[in-house]
Amino acid sequence: PETGCLSIIVLGASGDLAKKKTFPALYNLYRRGFLQSNEVYIFGYARTKISDDDLRNRIRGDILAKMLQSTLKMYQQIKYVSGSYDTEDGFRLLDKEISEHEVSKNSAEGSSRRLFYLALPPSVYPPVCRMIRKCCMNRADLGGWTRIVIEKPFGKDLESAEKLSAQIGELFEEPQLYRIDHYLGKELVQNLLVLRFANRFFLPLWNRDNIQIVFREDFGTEGRGGYFDEYGIIRDIIQNHLLQLCLVAMEKPVSLKPEHIRDEKVKVLQSVLPIKDEEVVLGQYEGYRDDPTVPDHSNTPTFATVVLRIHNERWEGVPFILKAGKALNSRKAEIRVQFKDVPGDIFKCQKQGRNEFVIRLQPSEAMYMKLTVKQPGLEMSTVQSELDLSYKQRYQGVAIPEAYERLILDTIRGDQQHFVRRDELKAAWEIFTPLLHRIDDGEMKPLQYQPGSRGPVEADELLAKAGYVQTHGY
Ligand code: BG6
Repeated sequence: PETGCLSIIVLGASGDLAKKKTFPALYNLYRRGFLQSNEVYIFGYARTKISDDDLRNRIRGDILAKMLQSTLKMYQQIKYVSGSYDTEDGFRLLDKEISEHEVSKNSAEGSSRRLFYLALPPSVYPPVCRMIRKCCMNRADLGGWTRIVIEKPFGKDLESAEKLSAQIGELFEEPQLYRIDHYLGKELVQNLLVLRFANRFFLPLWNRDNIQIVFREDFGTEGRGGYFDEYGIIRDIIQNHLLQLCLVAMEKPVSLKPEHIRDEKVKVLQSVLPIKDEEVVLGQYEGYRDDPTVPDHSNTPTFATVVLRIHNERWEGVPFILKAGKALNSRKAEIRVQFKDVPGDIFKCQKQGRNEFVIRLQPSEAMYMKLTVKQPGLEMSTVQSELDLSYKQRYQGVAIPEAYERLILDTIRGDQQHFVRRDELKAAWEIFTPLLHRIDDGEMKPLQYQPGSRGPVEADELLAKAGYVQTHGY
């Protein structure tokens, strides 16, 4: 591991993302001993005029319930600098503070390691990156690196994403850029590669009827209506988080090197055929427009089911059904692989349902297989049962790290495997841009659905048309 000074600079330190995700993740990393060295310093930067202590108290207030005595020390390693996002003064001041810290530690070669975390709206990414480039690069005399972490949304469609990529690409090289999609930090998403390529019995079996990738939330857009209405469920969830789960569809990479893995992801995304209108169902929950920050005639979908078709040898004829919705009947994210019917099935009349392999990302991480067994007892009848690997039971006492925690640590270590590469981002936008433009132009409209329901019934009909056979209890 590298040693020497590490500065983590959270830009947008007084905002919501920093409060909910970035600082708690840093806190957890500290608690686990990854940031304990007194050569690690955390800088907050934002426009709000507050003091170091104000920022410390805010963070402390947010995570107080979990706080341990030993982490009180962490607060002495936090500093705040206030400044705007597009002028040099603030960034020069920030650079001065970081440099003072680096020099005061009598740092050795390689000690100017600067991680800039942009917990900011994407509209300010270009000016902020320009300012960092101009005023805050790591000190050449101390060596080390400068890395930039950015959050989605990376643009609104192919064109705007490409423009943003080009603007940032002029300032920083691809190995310096870490585009976060926090789904890639989830335990069971990280497990996908192992599952697919380290298990002999999944190799031939990965031949199935249909695959569903599902995201449901049982709450609406409360408090975020303004942001959400500009983006909608496809940009907020499907084009990024759900598409990243295409890890289930990729071929075996040459090695575990991040570039090899990302090459395979790009290939599978590039093999997706254009989406057909008749394989899309959009929904908007009743009451969504009551939010004062949402326009009265909003056409923005809060629900979507989209069927993707992958044109390659392995996946020809196997629909990938991506489904995401807000204000539904449950909170769940899962990948559901449904297998074909047994050929020449002799138990036909007692058939309970198809075999399925389910990877549940949340809540309660689990992997289970639905299979048919003989109902125990004297009668010869069948019943659907599960082979169940529930993480809570199997790994009792093992704490599963938060996605952000893992990803920030990867950034410190310089591992880009779980970050979105520029060509991958482009391929993802290419898939959805035509559909998004049709929605933006009002050519496709969402159907209304009841909050707390499964979404529009038309979505279940589309699922059935794509080949999904509803099984008992789902
Ligand atoms: C975010 C979306 O990226 O992911 C939110 O902007 C969504 O709308 C959230 O609620 C879901 O993340 P998780 O980890 O709770 O599934």
